[in-house]
Amino acid sequence: MAKETVTDSLPTASFSETVSFLFKVMAPNIAKGVIIRRPGVMHVAERWALDKRSIKQVQAFNNKYGKGPLLFKTPFKPMALILDPDDATRVIEETPEPFATAESAKKSALAHFEPDVALISKGKAREERRRLNEDVLESGCPMHRFSDHFTQVAEQEVNALLKAVYHHNNKLDWPLFFDAWNRVVRRVVLGDAARDDYPLTQELIQLRKAANWGFMRPKRKRLRQKFHNRLAHYVDQSETNSLAAKVSHYAIGSQAKPVGQMPQWLFAFEPAGMATFRALALLCAHPAQAERAQREINLSPPPDNPFLQACVLEALRLWPTTPLILRETTERTCWSQGEMPTNTTLLIHAPYFHRDDCTLDIANRFAPDIWLNPEQLKHWPLLPFSGGPGICPGRNIVLLVTSAVLAALMNNHTFTLNPPDRLTEDEPMPALLSNFHLCFQVKQSDALSRQEG
Ligand code: HEM
Repeated sequence: MAKETVTDSLPTASFSETVSFLFKVMAPNIAKGVIIRRPGVMHVAERWALDKRSIKQVQAFNNKYGKGPLLFKTPFKPMALILDPDDATRVIEETPEPFATAESAKKSALAHFEPDVALISKGKAREERRRLNEDVLESGCPMHRFSDHFTQVAEQEVNALLKAVYHHNNKLDWPLFFDAWNRVVRRVVLGDAARDDYPLTQELIQLRKAANWGFMRPKRKRLRQKFHNRLAHYVDQSETNSLAAKVSHYAIGSQAKPVGQMPQWLFAFEPAGMATFRALALLCAHPAQAERAQREINLSPPPDNPFLQACVLEALRLWPTTPLILRETTERTCWSQGEMPTNTTLLIHAPYFHRDDCTLDIANRFAPDIWLNPEQLKHWPLLPFSGGPGICPGRNIVLLVTSAVLAALMNNHTFTLNPPDRLTEDEPMPALLSNFHLCFQVKQSDALSRQEG
C-alpha cells in the first residue's frame, strides 16, 4: 500500500454536498461535451459563468475540508476530489500505479473510437503503447525532426485561409479557421495526400459524438472499423514527413497497436486549435503583448517562438481543454487524512488549480511570462498537459504547430476582436471563452497591401 501515515478517515461529503458537486462541477463539464464540445452548451456555459461557479464550489470544499481528498459516495462508484497541490502532484507522479489513467468513465467514452489507445490500456500493453507514442511524437525533444515541414504546412494553410478571409468580408470565424486547422492536422498526422480527406474528419466527429454519451450509447463498430481502415491506408502510403510514416515502422499486429494510437492524435489536435484561437483573442485584448508577439515574429521565424508558445500555454491555463484529469486507484491508498478504497475515481479539477484566486495573484489575468520563467510556479500544479509519466506526449508538437499557425496569421496582418469588447484587459479573464463564438476582423498590413496592390 502507498506510504503516508493514516490519522483518521478521509473527509466524506454530505448528501447535499454530493448533489452540489454533481450539479456544479460534473454536470456542466458533461453537458459541454467531454469528447467533442457542443457549441450551444458552450455558449450558455459562458453566459451563465458556469465554470466560475464550479471553481467557487471546489474552493468552498477546500475551505471546509482542508487538504482532502474529499470522498463522494455517488450511486455509481466512489469518487474523490483532489484539493491539495501536493496531492495533485502525487497523483500525477504515481501514474499508472497506483493511479491508473484507464479510469472507467474515460474507458467507456474513448472505446467508441480508440479502444486500443495507451490512455485506457493497462500493464504491459500500456507500456508498449505509451512507448510508441513517445517515439513517434518525439515527446522528449522540443523540436520534432519534421518540425521544418510542419511549419511549412502551417504557413501554406494559413495563407490559403487568409485568401478565404478576404472573400468573407475580412472576417475570421471559427468554421473558417477550423476547416484550415483540420487541413494542417491531416497533413501533419497522415501526409499531404490526406489534406482534403474531409470524410475522415467527419467519421471521427460522428464517433466522438457517440463517445460523449459513454456507456449510454452503443458502439458504432462498423463506422469505427471503416475509420481505422482509412488510417491504415495512410500508414501503408507512409508519406515522407508525416507521423504516419513513423508509424509504418511498427508491425501492424503488435501489442503496441500502432494504428490504434492514431485516432488520439487527430482527436487531440482539436483542442490545440481551440487554444490557438483563444490565444489570438488574448493577444487582441492585450495590445502590449501583441506588440511583443509581433517583435518575436519579425526577429525569429517559426519554429522558434517561445513567447507565442507561452501565449498558447496561457490560453490553456485560463481555459484548460482537459478540465478534469481522471485517475482510478488500483489498490487501497493512504493519505494524511485517511485511506481510500481500490477502484475510486480521482478527479483533479484543473480550473480550480489554474484559477485559484486565493493563491495565485495572476489567477484571472493573462500572464504569459509565467511560462517563460517556470521556476516561479514550480510548486503549484499547472496541468494543461497533465504531468509525470502520463504527461501528454504530443505537447511539443502542439506548441510547435500552434505557434507556427499564430505566427503565420499575425505576419503582415492585424486582428481585432469583433465585437472589440468581447474580451478586454481591463476585466478579469472570464472563466470560459467559447472558441465557437469568437470572430476577428482581419486587416492586411500597409506594406503588404501596397505590394499586392
Ligand atoms: C492543446 C492540445 C492538447 C492538450 C491540452 C492535451 C492534453 C493532454 C492531457 C491533459 C493528457 C492526459 C489525459 C489523461 O491523463 O487522462 C493527454 C494525453 C495524451 N495526449 Fe495530449 N493534449 C493535446 C494534444 C495532443 C496531440 C496533438 C497529441 C498527438 C499528436 C496528443 C497525444 C496524447 C496522447 C497519446 C495521450 C495519452 C498519453 C498516455 O496514455 O499516457 N495530445 N493530453
